[in-house]
Amino acid sequence: MSKIYAIISGKGGTGKTTSAINLGTSLNHLGENVIIIDGNLSTPNIGIHLGAPIVPITLNHVLNGQAKLEEAIYEHESGTKIIPASLSLKEIGKINYKALPDIAKKLKRITDHILIDSAAGLGKEVKSIIQVSDEIIIITNPEIAAITDALKTIKLTQEMNKPIKGIIITRYQGKETEMSLPNIKDMLESPILGIIPEDVAIKKSQAMKNAVIHTHPKSRAAKTYLTTSRRLLGEDVEIEPPIRLGFWKRLFGKG
Ligand SMILES: Nc1ncnc2c1ncn2[C@@H]1O[C@H](COP(=O)(O)OP(=O)(O)O)[C@@H](O)[C@H]1O
Ligand SMILES: [Mg+2]
Repeated sequence: MSKIYAIISGKGGTGKTTSAINLGTSLNHLGENVIIIDGNLSTPNIGIHLGAPIVPITLNHVLNGQAKLEEAIYEHESGTKIIPASLSLKEIGKINYKALPDIAKKLKRITDHILIDSAAGLGKEVKSIIQVSDEIIIITNPEIAAITDALKTIKLTQEMNKPIKGIIITRYQGKETEMSLPNIKDMLESPILGIIPEDVAIKKSQAMKNAVIHTHPKSRAAKTYLTTSRRLLGEDVEIEPPIRLGFWKRLFGKG
C-alpha cells in the first residue's frame, strides 16, 4: 500500500530538505517507486538542491487547478522523481491548501512512497501536510533547542492522530555539548529511525546538485541514509555506531 510521509521538525535548519532528498534517492536506488514533494511552499528548496531552480509547472499550479499533477513531476538525473514548488512570490501568495487531499489521493495511485519536505514551524502549511500524511518522520539535531521543538511537533501530530514513523537525528557529532542518545530517546519517546553524522560529503553533494548516495556513495552520510531508508521499508537493520572511533580510542576500548 502506498504511503505518504511528512518530513517535519519544528525548528528550521535541522536537515529536513537534506533528509527528504537523501531518503528519496536512497529508496529510488533500492528500486523503490518514490516521489519527493516540496511541501515547503513558502520557502521551497528541493528544486534548488537538485539543480532545477526554475521549472514551468510546480505544485502550486496543481494546487490552484492550473495544471495536472503529472505535469509537475520531474525526473532528476539520478532517476528520482520530484515535484518542486514555485519560487515566484506571486504564486506563493495564493496557495490553495484545500486541494492537497485530492492531490495526495492521486499520488498514492501512481507511486508507492511519497516524501513531503515541509517548512519549519507548526503553522497552517505544516498542519495541512501532516493532515494528508499517513506517517510522520521527525528530523532533529542532537541539541536541546531542536529536541524541544521536535517534542512540540510530536505533541501536535499526536493531537492530529498521526503516527510517528520515527526520529532521524542528523548532523550528529558525538560532542559533549550534544544531548546523549539515551536522553533524546527518553525525551521524545519515539523510535529512532536513523542517525546521520555531520559529514562534509553532504555539503559537497549539495554543491553538485545531487544526492550524497550518487556523489559520495562511500561516505558515512550516504551509508547511514541508505540504512535509514531500509528501516523505513521495514527491514530490521541495526543502527550503526554514530561515531567512528579513532585508532587510539579503539585500542583503549579493547583493553
Ligand atoms: N549530515 C549533515 N552534515 C553536514 N551538513 C548537513 C547535514 N545535514 C544537513 N546539513 C546542512 O545543514 C543545513 C540545513 O539543512 P536543510 O536540509 O536545508 O535543513 P531544513 O530543510 O530543515 O531547513 C544545510 O546547509 C545542509 O547542508
Ligand atoms: Mg528545508
